[in-house]
Amino acid sequence: MKPCYRDTMDPNIVLGLAKRRGFFFPSFEIYGGMAGMYDYGPLGSAMKNNIESLWRKNYVLHEGLSEIFSPIISPEEVFRASGHLAEFSDFSVQCQKCKQAFRADHLLEEVVDNPDSMSQKELGEAMVSNDIKCPSCKGELSEPVAVNLMFKTTVGPLGGRDGYMRPETAQAMFFNFHLLHRFYREKLPFGIVQLGKGFRNEISPRQGITRLREFNMMEAEVFFDPENKVWPGFAEVADLKLRLLPDGLEEQELSLKDAVSKGIIANEPLAYFMHVTKKILLAAGLDDKRLRFRQHLKTEMAHYAEDCWDCEALTGYGWLELVGVADRGCYDLQSHIDHSDAELTAFIRFPEPIEMEATVIVPNLSALGPLFKGKAGAIATRLGEMPCDGLDATMPIVLDMDGEEVTVPANCFTISQEIKKVSGKRIVPHVIEPSYGLDRIFYTVMDHNYKEDGEYVTLGLPIAIAPIKFGVFPLMTKDGLDDIASEVDKKLRQKGLLTYYDGSGTIGRRYARMDEAGTPFCITVDYESKEDDCVTIRDRDTKDQKRVKMDDLDKVAISLADSSLTFEAIG
Ligand code: GLY
Repeated sequence: MKPCYRDTMDPNIVLGLAKRRGFFFPSFEIYGGMAGMYDYGPLGSAMKNNIESLWRKNYVLHEGLSEIFSPIISPEEVFRASGHLAEFSDFSVQCQKCKQAFRADHLLEEVVDNPDSMSQKELGEAMVSNDIKCPSCKGELSEPVAVNLMFKTTVGPLGGRDGYMRPETAQAMFFNFHLLHRFYREKLPFGIVQLGKGFRNEISPRQGITRLREFNMMEAEVFFDPENKVWPGFAEVADLKLRLLPDGLEEQELSLKDAVSKGIIANEPLAYFMHVTKKILLAAGLDDKRLRFRQHLKTEMAHYAEDCWDCEALTGYGWLELVGVADRGCYDLQSHIDHSDAELTAFIRFPEPIEMEATVIVPNLSALGPLFKGKAGAIATRLGEMPCDGLDATMPIVLDMDGEEVTVPANCFTISQEIKKVSGKRIVPHVIEPSYGLDRIFYTVMDHNYKEDGEYVTLGLPIAIAPIKFGVFPLMTKDGLDDIASEVDKKLRQKGLLTYYDGSGTIGRRYARMDEAGTPFCITVDYESKEDDCVTIRDRDTKDQKRVKMDDLDKVAISLADSSLTFEAIG
């Protein structure tokens, strides 16, 4: 059975199989459909859950990150701070004749290099010089205009507050930093994850589930002291290799250690989470030979990123970005600090307290007392704690005292230089963000595991990802074989294994249905089962069959399903 590589793999084959077998299909079809919206069907939902479980197993259980779950609709202030309101746009052109909108860079894809990194002006010029017309009706196209990709809504029925559907799950991990940092007993590094929906009002959604308007993300934000960017597991994996396509250099295989020491990957945690990404994608069944990490061009980088590597997979659609591993620096936390009153910083303790000259505010109690009476003490304490950078000793200071604005005149304090013992400093942590597009990974799992032998189709899904773990068949639906098979089916489900009971058609047809659905094992109850209390287990990939005692079936099935036992090791 041969895997289908790009030149033979037609995405329509994957889309056809996905719809036929209930993996995924376009939403709202009976009402004409809606571009960029897909449903996951019964097998698809189960497989999506399995990919999420695999991801959680790595990030939450293995790496020790913690999961949060936040609202999808967020107030406008979040995206003003994050930069999405001002920056999160694509350039769109509209056909003057048929009124369809297109992404300008998509129309230039086969025409110029890297159109997605071009400015508005460059795109406009390239459209004119290459005489680009509407792909549908050949009408004239407008100039490119920037279109913000967020969905806007109103929270509250009358005169409500402006809100947006989140375009990434990341922001809640930033604006809740102070609470999450406290959860981690104010230590760095630590990491938070969030899985859930993101929304982008794509100009021209296309290519099945690989560019959706409502999509599924799995994101991690790992917070570091910028002067100590290290992650505990790095040394263990430092010699493992990644296939890299660095900006401006040839594709090359480099160990994590060499890529960091040569300055190709900016730092160890970035390299480490690229390795974790590769590990998860291989465990999900992706083909190593069709995976690479491509560094973003400077012009292509998101507004928040200092460095970014896309893990790309070669699919029937060409190279597809599945995961972005970005160094977001302190962009987001600093921005939320600037736009709110929140203290989104971390205190880094020095190994020993050090003496340093510090600018301090010295409250003048004899001026504060008569002016502020009972509040003078609290105001003096607040003044003493304030950061002094940029303060002008001749200007009043405005304080927020429990919501009340208090103006402290300049005669109530002095600013002076003192030698102080300092035990540490406040910093704005840096962030490494591995961000996974679940739907694209899902598509690629199907693309890379599609195998055919003539008309016979097998989806070679890894056991951990396969939606159904066991097909359960009575050889005949009579003579009590169906009762025994139903009992087997029930017992396996009670053990947490998703099964599919099938009593119709020839055994060959039943195997074929399960092979096409990616089911790794099938169990058949036959007449001999009544004599020897055994069933036959068949392996999808080798077609080998083994007899197993029904009393042992639970144990064997559980071991097979979690891959702790190989098929060869049975019996
Ligand atoms: N959080 C990464 C992204 O939005 O692509």
